[in-house]
Amino acid sequence: MAALFSSPPTEGKPEVPKWIPPEPTKEALDWANLHTIELALLDSPDPQVVDNLVQLTKTAIKEDGFLYLTNYGISLDQLHRQFNLAQYLHRNISAGDKERLLWNPQSGTFAGFKRRLGWKREAGDYDGIEQFNFYRPQFEDPESNVPECIKPFMDEIIAFCEYLTYSVNRRLLKLLSRILELPDDYLWDNVQSHEWPLGDGYFRHALFYPLLGEDKERRKGVRMYGHTDYGSTTLLFSVPVTALHIWSKHNKWQPVKYNPGALVVNLGEALEIISGGHFKATKHKVTATPEDQEHCERLSLVQFNASIGDMRLTPAVASPLLQREGFVPSQGIFQQYKKLMDAGVPVPTNKEWRDIQIATNSQIAPESRPGGIKEINGVKYGVDKFFGVEVALPR
Ligand SMILES: [Fe+2]
Repeated sequence: MAALFSSPPTEGKPEVPKWIPPEPTKEALDWANLHTIELALLDSPDPQVVDNLVQLTKTAIKEDGFLYLTNYGISLDQLHRQFNLAQYLHRNISAGDKERLLWNPQSGTFAGFKRRLGWKREAGDYDGIEQFNFYRPQFEDPESNVPECIKPFMDEIIAFCEYLTYSVNRRLLKLLSRILELPDDYLWDNVQSHEWPLGDGYFRHALFYPLLGEDKERRKGVRMYGHTDYGSTTLLFSVPVTALHIWSKHNKWQPVKYNPGALVVNLGEALEIISGGHFKATKHKVTATPEDQEHCERLSLVQFNASIGDMRLTPAVASPLLQREGFVPSQGIFQQYKKLMDAGVPVPTNKEWRDIQIATNSQIAPESRPGGIKEINGVKYGVDKFFGVEVALPR
């Protein structure tokens, strides 16, 4: 049985005000109907229970590429403490630290502080999204790399990320390896970057301030444009303010409903490619909130897990599932990688792939993308091309 999360003590630390979750929307929306995977069932002594769990996960990731993960070892109180800390960081980061720790996406990582002024180091238009992103340097040397106000709490943030990496994500990858009918640690050992405490991945404290009036008009109701995540798995804690939409199996954008304490998990491009397209890296976006939440702040905690940097991804052809059923070539990024593989052209390394997207492609409106607009089945997509790989994303 997997150990539950145990958080370091809070005694002797500065007082941290509680985060009050906003009221969920009362609007009846066309919700995405996601499956719920209870992770603790993986430890069941009954093989039938475990098999049912594997089958349900298989359905979820083939159909939706998104799922709710529950019973993963972190209590609601422990989770809310992390939200308190994220809120505390955004409320108390000094002007000096905002400047000193200002991010530089052109370097290929989002590490550090993002202002509410777009996705470059230089100030752009107001987007109302503030973030602090913790990569390995923030954990290894907090003294130099995190805001002064959060330093007393780094033991708690580190413990939380360690648990997400070494317990939650590792168990999740075990479940996914079983779907591929490969050894339990196949994806952990061969794909997942997991040097202490979260490999080449990162942990994000994001705060979406309300976007109103002219700013809302200019963004046409979109806070973060449609995209797929490039890593292995993304662990997003479900929040009451509705904004996340996924490009669903019904070929339309559908919002994801608040599920208190659950993780909203989606699979990144690395797993789509390694699985030969059996796993789906689903497109998603963040939109304006429903009207009854228009003035709410949306606090968001996410861990983005990364694949091994110097690896060039190819499908895991040793998988009995792939041997039996072949590839699923219709998946977007897998299809693109496969074209290169078939032509004998090397695909980019995982590090090259994520660096170029962070450096050049972060949140550019579809109509401004270098490859222009392409219409597929009546839907307009903005197109990019990196290393010969075409990326088409809907607005
Ligand atoms: Fe994303």
